[in-house]
Amino acid sequence: MHPLILLATLTVGALATAIQAGGHDPCCSFPCQNQGVCVTITSDSYTCDCSQTGFYGNRCEHATLLMQIKLWLKPDPETVNGILTRYKWFWDTVNYFPFLRETVMKKVYTLRSNMVDSPPTYTSQHEYITFEAANNLSYFTRSLPPVPRNCPTPMGVAGKKQLPDVQFLVDQLFTRTEFKPDPMKTSVLFAFFAQHFTHQFFKTDFAKGPGFTNGGHGVDVSHIYGHDKNVENLLRSFSGGKLKSQMLNGEEFPPYLRDVPGVPVRYKSTVADIHKFALGHEFFGLLPGLFLYATIWLREHNRVCEVLAKEHPVWDDERLFQTAKLIVLGETIKIVIEDYVQHLSSYNFQLLFKPDLLFGEEFQYQNRIAVEFNHLYHWHPLMPDRFNVSGKTYQMKDFMYHSGLVVEHGTHSFTDSLSRQIAGQMTYRNHGPMTLGVAADIIKHGRQLRFQGFNNYRKRFNMKPYTTFEELTGEKEIAKILEGAYGDVDAVEFYVGLLTEKRRYQALFGGTIVEMGGPFSVKGLMSNAICSPKYWKPSTFGGQTGFDIVNSASLSGLFCNNIPGQCPLVSFRIPEDSQRPPEKADYCDEDCVKKQEL
Ligand code: HEM
Ligand SMILES: *[C@@H]1O[C@H](CO)[C@@H](O)[C@H](O)[C@H]1NC(C)=O
Ligand SMILES: *[C@@H]1O[C@H](CO)[C@@H](O)[C@H](O)[C@H]1NC(C)=O
Repeated sequence: MHPLILLATLTVGALATAIQAGGHDPCCSFPCQNQGVCVTITSDSYTCDCSQTGFYGNRCEHATLLMQIKLWLKPDPETVNGILTRYKWFWDTVNYFPFLRETVMKKVYTLRSNMVDSPPTYTSQHEYITFEAANNLSYFTRSLPPVPRNCPTPMGVAGKKQLPDVQFLVDQLFTRTEFKPDPMKTSVLFAFFAQHFTHQFFKTDFAKGPGFTNGGHGVDVSHIYGHDKNVENLLRSFSGGKLKSQMLNGEEFPPYLRDVPGVPVRYKSTVADIHKFALGHEFFGLLPGLFLYATIWLREHNRVCEVLAKEHPVWDDERLFQTAKLIVLGETIKIVIEDYVQHLSSYNFQLLFKPDLLFGEEFQYQNRIAVEFNHLYHWHPLMPDRFNVSGKTYQMKDFMYHSGLVVEHGTHSFTDSLSRQIAGQMTYRNHGPMTLGVAADIIKHGRQLRFQGFNNYRKRFNMKPYTTFEELTGEKEIAKILEGAYGDVDAVEFYVGLLTEKRRYQALFGGTIVEMGGPFSVKGLMSNAICSPKYWKPSTFGGQTGFDIVNSASLSGLFCNNIPGQCPLVSFRIPEDSQRPPEKADYCDEDCVKKQEL
């Protein structure tokens, strides 16, 4: 190493200079830059701990020589996104050669997952590190600690003494005034996938409070097999490894709830018994789209059991069940990365699920769900106000809690229809009437948990903070409302910022959701036990046949293998010829697009 670099590196983390602040907790102003840690000393002094940040100085504001070189070489997130979503000819070449594709994918895995603290560092309880943060699984973790308690303003020192009225924000910024379709032509089938998949790990324990979870901390397929062993046993048939099911209109469906008492699934009491089913997740009676996924995964589990039974005639029910569950888990991750995240990213680079790329890398096979991840995944604007199933229109209120509609129309028609209907855009003024309460709740919870401002989260995930409201929104009207409400762009709240941010080039939402969601997502998927060296091999999945099922899984395969007869349209993007309203929803105006051009 060059002696100058060595010298610069050695100064990192050595400084502990006390600095004056004015009366309140001096860390309220978040003085430490570049992920330096602020430590309060007295009521008017603090230090910044710059260890391992690559920066030094009283506020970790100076880059070491090594870091300067790194920063100089490292393109900013907007540029990277621009490259990945353009130059199709280039990416077609990369995708074609396995070595190139794998090299890029390994970078995606490591760059993204390195953004997540592992082991986890904070909870919503303390603004400093505690051992409980690492040890107590009841907490959602935090990627930024809470704002200290005795600060001049709720956001630290930025903005007004009082945050804007929640109802005002809901009325002015969230309420849908007209349906804004997603400019990327995302289908409603995608929206239900998002909700179905993420509910296995976003399980807020409201009895304890919004900072707590009663779920596991990752992809555990509990949304298919039940919250705990007790529910799992109720759902199992204990024969051939299969889950309980019934035949209705010649198709396999989950059993009726009345036939499997004790499974916790919430339905409105006014709903008839033929709409109530025993499902792995208690909220999946909410929408027929969720019931469709529950049905398809149940069929897949039972189908896999038959394949395994043929291969291993001597295996008992237990072994067939456990192995099929591992295969379903593997298929889930494969489909999430190669179909779901692929659609979300709009990359021309073809994503790859290949756990062995991380073997030999420094990588922790452990994960903790962050409460910020949960908040940013509140994608309720994706939901339209009505559904068109084979030409028949259902208003949201007639759709909710009516699982039986899937039986009535059949899984073929239902899947086809959801693939042809466009989802709403994840943006401001696009929450339908049924989800306005959720929008209000999420803002309240962010306040209760003392979330830091939107701009602080941008910094935490290597993005530049916005300097003006117009830069944030990319337009004027919403910017004005935000300015009136918050006064200072650094005081804009997390969820409010996410939903008012200008759309990123070729994206479903603003850049911040992608830059924060990406790391949480990659880390959560690749840190799964089945991706670790001792698990990721054919024998874990019952041999080569099972391993092949995992490695060849796809969204269309999942549906087509489990829907009798001809395959329906199975797509996260509506077809070109589908009717769709005009694209008023694209807020990235000329100026904004120009800024994102390379
Ligand atoms: C019309 C459709 C939907 C309705 C009526 C609905 C309703 C709800 C309700 C009532 C909650 C409870 C939490 C609260 O009030 O604070 C909730 C939570 C949540 N919803 Fe939705 N939702 C819908 C669609 C979606 C979609 C499409 C997504 C996409 C990912 C989604 C993601 C979430 C998440 C992540 C939570 C937090 C869960 C938890 O932490 O326990 N929802 N939703
Ligand atoms: C985790 O924290 C919660 C809330 O403080 C507490 O009720 C629970 O006992 C803790 N669990 C463990 C294992 O420490
Ligand atoms: C409903 O969807 C079908 C295609 O599945 C389409 O032909 C029809 O026009 C749609 N109807 C409405 C009211 O959008």
